[in-house]
Amino acid sequence: MESVPTTEDAQGQATPWWRSAVIYQVYPRSFADGNGDGTGDIAGLRTRLGHLAGLGVDALWLSPWYVSPLADGGYDVADYRDIDPAFGTLDEAEALIREAHSLGLRIVVDLVPNHCSEQHPWFQAALTAGPGAPERDRFHFRAGRGEHGELPPNDWPSHFGGPAWSRTADGSWYLHMFAPEQPDWNWEHPEVRAEFLSVLRFWLDLGVDGFRIDVTDHLVKEDGLPDAAGHHQRPHPWRDQEGVHEIYRSWRKLLDTYPDDRAFVAELWEQDPERFARYLRPDELHTAFNFPLLRSPWSAAAFREVIDATLAAHALVGAPATWVLSNHDTTRHVTRYGRADTSYGFDRAARHGLPVDLALGTRRARAAALLMLALPGGAYVYQGDELGLWEVEDIPDELRQDPTWLRSGGVDRGRDGCRVPLPWEGQEQPFGFSPARASAAPWLDVQPDGWRELTVAAQSGMPGSHLELYREALHLRRALPGLGDGPLRWNASAPEVLDFTRPGGVRCVVNLGPEPTPLPAGATGLLASAELMDGMLPPDAAVWLRGH
Ligand code: NOJ
Repeated sequence: MESVPTTEDAQGQATPWWRSAVIYQVYPRSFADGNGDGTGDIAGLRTRLGHLAGLGVDALWLSPWYVSPLADGGYDVADYRDIDPAFGTLDEAEALIREAHSLGLRIVVDLVPNHCSEQHPWFQAALTAGPGAPERDRFHFRAGRGEHGELPPNDWPSHFGGPAWSRTADGSWYLHMFAPEQPDWNWEHPEVRAEFLSVLRFWLDLGVDGFRIDVTDHLVKEDGLPDAAGHHQRPHPWRDQEGVHEIYRSWRKLLDTYPDDRAFVAELWEQDPERFARYLRPDELHTAFNFPLLRSPWSAAAFREVIDATLAAHALVGAPATWVLSNHDTTRHVTRYGRADTSYGFDRAARHGLPVDLALGTRRARAAALLMLALPGGAYVYQGDELGLWEVEDIPDELRQDPTWLRSGGVDRGRDGCRVPLPWEGQEQPFGFSPARASAAPWLDVQPDGWRELTVAAQSGMPGSHLELYREALHLRRALPGLGDGPLRWNASAPEVLDFTRPGGVRCVVNLGPEPTPLPAGATGLLASAELMDGMLPPDAAVWLRGH
C-alpha cells in the first residue's frame, strides 16, 4: 500500500514523522455517521477525510473499531482482526487507510492488550472449559477467599468502581481492572504474547502507520497478585512492573522490520517522569501521551514546571515529547478552563456541574492551542477541539452510557460528556452528524443547541473562528519547520507570562495573568488567539511572533 512521504526538519534533514506529528484523535462512534443508523462509522469518516486533511493534521488515531459488544465504547475487543459491523467492514478499513495515505494522512490504530471482551472466543472457551482447564491460564482465574470462596481473591479495585474481580457460574473469580466485561489477559502465557505479535503484524500488513497502546503499564501483574493495601513498594502490583518492558522490546523489534517509520504511542498515566521515560528507551516505544499538561491548572508557573519536567525526562532517552489537552476520557478543556479550579482530576464526581464560564474557557482553549502547537515534539487534537466544543454536562441520567456511571452507582457521571457526536453543518440537530433521513437518532442524542454556531460549516471561512485559528496554526506549523521537534529557549518574562523561542526565530508568548502584557518590540505577529490591545497581549491569550 502506498505510504506517506517522509518529513524534513528545519535543516532539511529527513526526520521520522512521529517526532513532530500533530495527530487527530477520531472517536469513531461520534465522528460521522455515514449509513444513518445513529452511530459514527468508517463510511462517515471517509466522507470527512477532506476536512481533516484541510485542517492540516499529519495523522489520525482511531479509537477502537474492532468487533466489540461496546461495553466500554470498543475498549472491550471480541475480535482484534476485524471491524465491528456498527463501524463497517475490513474492506472499508483498507479503503480508508488507502484514501488517508493519498491525502498525506497517516493512520494510527488503537491496540487494547491489557484486556479483551468477555465475548472474545478465548474467554468464552475459558468459561466453558471450567476450573483448572488450561484455557483459563490465558486469563487470571483464581479461587475466592472466605470459607466458601465467596470473597474476591485480593483487594484490588476496578478503575470503574467495585472490585476488580467477578465470579463465574462455577464459583471461580477472574480479574478485570476495568469493567467485568473486560477480562484481563495473563501476559505470562506464551500464547497471549504470540497472539498480540500476530495482531500487530495483521494491521502492519494492512498498512497502518502506528499503534496507540491502551493502559500500557498494566499488562504485567506482580507475581502472586498480592493485596494492594499495605503494599508500599514501587512498582505497584498491577502497574509499571518491570516485566512489561520486555513485551514492548519484542514489539519494537517487530515494528522495526517494517518500512516507513511505523510508531507506537503509549497511553501512560505514570506521574514519575523517570519511570515514564523508561518506556521510551530507544529499543522500546517511540512516544507516549504526556498527560501532566492536561492535568495542570491554567497557571504560567504550573505550565512551565510541566514543560521543563517533560522536556528533561524525554531528553534522558532521546524521545520527543507529546502534548495533549483533551481526549475521550477527560473533561473537555473549554469546560475545564472555564471553571474556578482549572486542573483535571479523576475525581470527576466532585467537579461535575460546577459553575463554568464558557467564554473564558474558550479564550483559554484558543491560547492553549497556540501554546501546545509551539512546544517541542508532537501534539494531539481530540475531535471537536478544533471546533471549541465544551463538555456536555447536562446529559439525562437515563441516556448515560459510560460503564463508569453504572459501576460507580451513579456517583461518577462518566465520560459521555466529551463523546457527544460532532456538529458538522446545518441548523438542526444532529447538525450533519447523520445524513438527512437517517433511520435513527444519534447514539448519544444530546448535542447542545449552542453547537449550531460551532459546526464545521458555520465556522469555515469565518475569520477568527476557533476552527480557522486551528487551521492557520496547523498550516503555519508546517510552513515553519522550527516548530515541532527541537530545542526551546525561555525568554525572560513576567511571572504570569510564558515566553519562549523555537528554532528559526518563532517566538510564542502566552499571557495567563489578569492584565495585558507588552509584546517584545520589533517582532512581527504571525498569529494571535485574540485581538491585541494597543500592541499588548490581553489576558488569556497567546501569540506567535517572528524575530528576536
Ligand atoms: C483507556 C481508554 O482510553 C479508556 O477509554 C478505556 O475505558 C480504558 N483504557 C480501558 O480500556
